[in-house]
Amino acid sequence: MDKKQEYFNLFGDNWDKDLTAEDLERLTHLIDKVKITEGIKVCDLGCGTGVMFDLLRRRVGEKGMIVGVDFAPRVAHKAHRNFPFHNVGVVEARASQLPFYKDNFDLVISFAAFAHFCNKDKSIHQAWHILKPGGRIVIIHFAGRDELARQHHEAGGPIDCDELPTRDQLAMMFEKSHFNRFELTENKDLYLAIGYKDK
Ligand SMILES: C[S@@+](CC[C@H](N)C(=O)[O-])C[C@H]1O[C@@H](n2cnc3c(N)ncnc32)[C@H](O)[C@@H]1O
Repeated sequence: MDKKQEYFNLFGDNWDKDLTAEDLERLTHLIDKVKITEGIKVCDLGCGTGVMFDLLRRRVGEKGMIVGVDFAPRVAHKAHRNFPFHNVGVVEARASQLPFYKDNFDLVISFAAFAHFCNKDKSIHQAWHILKPGGRIVIIHFAGRDELARQHHEAGGPIDCDELPTRDQLAMMFEKSHFNRFELTENKDLYLAIGYKDK
């Protein structure tokens, strides 16, 4: 296990406790804007203990499916234990090495995790690989680049330098990974990136 994995393994299951009712309301609002339809298959990258699972499950319904991915074994195990539903699965894996077939998911979503991914280029490419044509990747952080960098620096340890890409860096990542287009909304309190894999 590398240092970052160890860090999240130790502290990763505390994130859900830090999520305020206001955060949850904002997350619900954003997820509604993303328009998640019934029956779709969703991959939650860096799922932690499954903070988004319930919100997602309610939208995809019985016929849909949620698969969470997290590289910290203890956290992945907790997510699995928290959501023992037939249409929710949790896989212990790195975002840059996803153990899924090509064209498998309708939506890849990642909340409060992308900035921590060590190999962001590869993770974006992996997301493209597992998305069906017509699918999207949605990356959400409840802070803009500078604010998030400041928070991570303050936290210190192995996440000290974890940052979000600039618009130009993100454009390059999406383009290299064959996404057809992307949108980025950024302000002090939000970083919302959406990449589209056209049909
Ligand atoms: C700040 S927590 C957020 C977790 C969850 N999305 C939430 O909002 O509660 C970031 C999560 O990303 C996971 N993570 C970090 N880097 C990862 C990587 N390269 N691949 C998979 N998971 C990763 C960590 O283990 C951690 O659970």
